[in-house]
Amino acid sequence: MTTTDDRPTETANVRLGLAPTDPRPANETGPLADRQKTNPLFNDQKMKLGLFGTNCSFGLIMSHAASSYEVTWEHTKAIAQRADQMGFEALIPVARWKGFGGSTNFNGNCFETYTWAAGLAEATEHIAIAATSHLPTMHPIVSAKQATTIDHISGGRFALNLVMGWVTPEMEMFGGSQREHDRRYAFGQEWIDYAFKLWSETGSFDVDGEFFYGRDVEAYPKPVQGPRPALVNAGNSASGIEFSARNVDVNFASLDTLENVKTYTSSLKEKAKSEYSRDIQTMTYGLIVCRDTEAEAKAAFQNVVDEGDWGAAGNVIKIAGSGASQSFDHVVKEYQERFIAGWGGYPIVGTPEQVTEELVKLNEAGMDGMIMGLIDYKEELEIFNDDILPLMKQAGIRH
Ligand SMILES: Cc1cc2nc3c(=O)[nH]c(=O)nc-3n(C[C@H](O)[C@H](O)[C@H](O)COP(=O)(O)O)c2cc1C
Repeated sequence: MTTTDDRPTETANVRLGLAPTDPRPANETGPLADRQKTNPLFNDQKMKLGLFGTNCSFGLIMSHAASSYEVTWEHTKAIAQRADQMGFEALIPVARWKGFGGSTNFNGNCFETYTWAAGLAEATEHIAIAATSHLPTMHPIVSAKQATTIDHISGGRFALNLVMGWVTPEMEMFGGSQREHDRRYAFGQEWIDYAFKLWSETGSFDVDGEFFYGRDVEAYPKPVQGPRPALVNAGNSASGIEFSARNVDVNFASLDTLENVKTYTSSLKEKAKSEYSRDIQTMTYGLIVCRDTEAEAKAAFQNVVDEGDWGAAGNVIKIAGSGASQSFDHVVKEYQERFIAGWGGYPIVGTPEQVTEELVKLNEAGMDGMIMGLIDYKEELEIFNDDILPLMKQAGIRH
């Protein structure tokens, strides 16, 4: 790759029409705002909170358990606005192009995530909003500009969740054959190197890689968050960990036991520091079911399992078990019902005290955030607000 920057700033400004609205010259890459100030993913809350998959049908539960949840713009927006008011840090969507079949066609009714994020960026004030992007489906030039645009709409609150595309039937929809596991990360590395240049390089540059070729490439404006939007990667294999340590701000992980959480978070953070001189946060996800009594919470969780869509869960397990993803190996083997009740995440079930205790333990084990799913967001966000947030404050993991 080569870089050239031989155009006078003034000409570029006039040509790009930036001068009246953007105080920076067109070829200046510095941030308009400090992202620690604009993006709550970088705030000082010990245990950050977020919602996962509120753009997709059935969210995190493959189940017919009763819920007011529906994939309409009004509903997804109301959930986002409530989480925003409550001080949650992040909204992370699931990227999905096809459902998993079964009686729910799990996640098959699904909003596209960049446009979803753009709409919610305008509808919220504080919370970070992610798009989850299958890198093989997007050219970096298009994706980087969409990310930049949403970063401007949100005033520096955008995050890009980079996923490599493990669901083979979805990748086949795009006309290509699925790459072998580690090749997907090789592609991902070239993709993100390209996007980094688009977000930060001045002038224009050429790209001559294994996967991408481009002549006289340029991208303006630059993101509000400098030198790039917040980056997340959801991948837990050795190559996923390497990719995260090298490139992103948050690793988003599927983990089962506290012991594994401890080992995972400490080794990932150590790797990022020692090999790439970087800091990285780790966050996990799961279904949170909180009720006044433990018995009620357990019954509500069990109802999700009893009403489960075993057909969809079986299809997920078949795809994951075919070697497509290494993130979910432990879940496939040992915790099949975790797919039904929480998309293979870390379930937390109990009273407000018990839920808080679990969140404290996860935090002590090195988790910087819990990106949760709920059975019924409308009702249960209120439980979280009234009964759990005050206890988290008392426990010192939120302020
Ligand atoms: C927390 C989490 C969230 C994920 N979200 C998505 C998603 O929305 N869409 C998708 O296709 N894959 C998603 N994945 C799959 C990963 O991006 C990745 O492709 C898969 O886990 C295989 O990578 P690995 O073997 O390196 O872990 C997610 C994985 C995890 C752990």
